[in-house]
Amino acid sequence: MSPDRTTATDVSDDDMRRQYHELAELAGSLAHEIKNPLSVIHMNTDLLCEELEESQWPGKRRAIAKVDMIRQQCHRMENLLSDFLRFARMQDMEMTVASLNDQISVVLNFYQAQADKLNVRLERYLDPNLPHIRLNSSALQAALINLVKNALEAMPNGGELIVQTYSTPTGVALDMIDTGCGMDETTAMRMFEPFYSTKTEGSGLGLPTTRKIIEAHGGRINVQSEVERGTKFVIEFPTPKRIG
Ligand SMILES: Nc1ncnc2c1ncn2[C@@H]1O[C@H](COP(=O)(O)OP(=O)(O)OP(=O)(O)O)[C@@H](O)[C@H]1O
Ligand SMILES: [Mg+2]
Repeated sequence: MSPDRTTATDVSDDDMRRQYHELAELAGSLAHEIKNPLSVIHMNTDLLCEELEESQWPGKRRAIAKVDMIRQQCHRMENLLSDFLRFARMQDMEMTVASLNDQISVVLNFYQAQADKLNVRLERYLDPNLPHIRLNSSALQAALINLVKNALEAMPNGGELIVQTYSTPTGVALDMIDTGCGMDETTAMRMFEPFYSTKTEGSGLGLPTTRKIIEAHGGRINVQSEVERGTKFVIEFPTPKRIG
């Protein structure tokens, strides 16, 4: 959960962007400082666990359970660090001209099994004549993954996720519409703030990272949401001749 910041709603877009930038720089160096000692702790905990498994010590079961908890928490911290780093390293992305449909297809295929398990129907309406855009495939897929992941998390008891792509007067767009829990007013206002999360295990970096990636592609993201009805994300990208 994020700490409550009462002034958060008063800051302008520019202030917000500057804060993101400062945060990204800080996060990058912090992550580097923490990563190495953490991996040493993790590695030695793995070794300790192996040694305990082989020992004849009567208290070993309880000790293994405790060591295992440390390993899980190490794993969690490592994931949090990679979220940080993804958020921080947005500059110097290599762009190629490619298909947005291909990127979303890869992501949806990846989540199909999980959607089936959750009873979520994935519907795709991908425009076969969609113009290509300039994109960085792994960054854009990471952005789309965050949106799909959020949508599935909003529909724990099933529902529908509709993804459609189409041409716009200035480029291309992708809609992602879910029939999930929707967002209340506070969440709708704060969802792009780093560390804002309504989930117990959420880092709150998913959507800020997504927005940052989309903006690094010259695009923008808009959201409409209604509690208990669902959420619609619209992302728009310019086609190459209009970039720069
Ligand atoms: N499709 C959605 N439906 C309902 N609420 C959403 C949706 N997408 C985002 N949210 C809300 O916005 C908040 C911020 O989302 P974000 O992806 O940044 O963080 P998170 O999902 O909580 O954590 P993380 O992405 O790090 O696992 C979420 O906690 C949730 O309350
Ligand atoms: Mg998320």
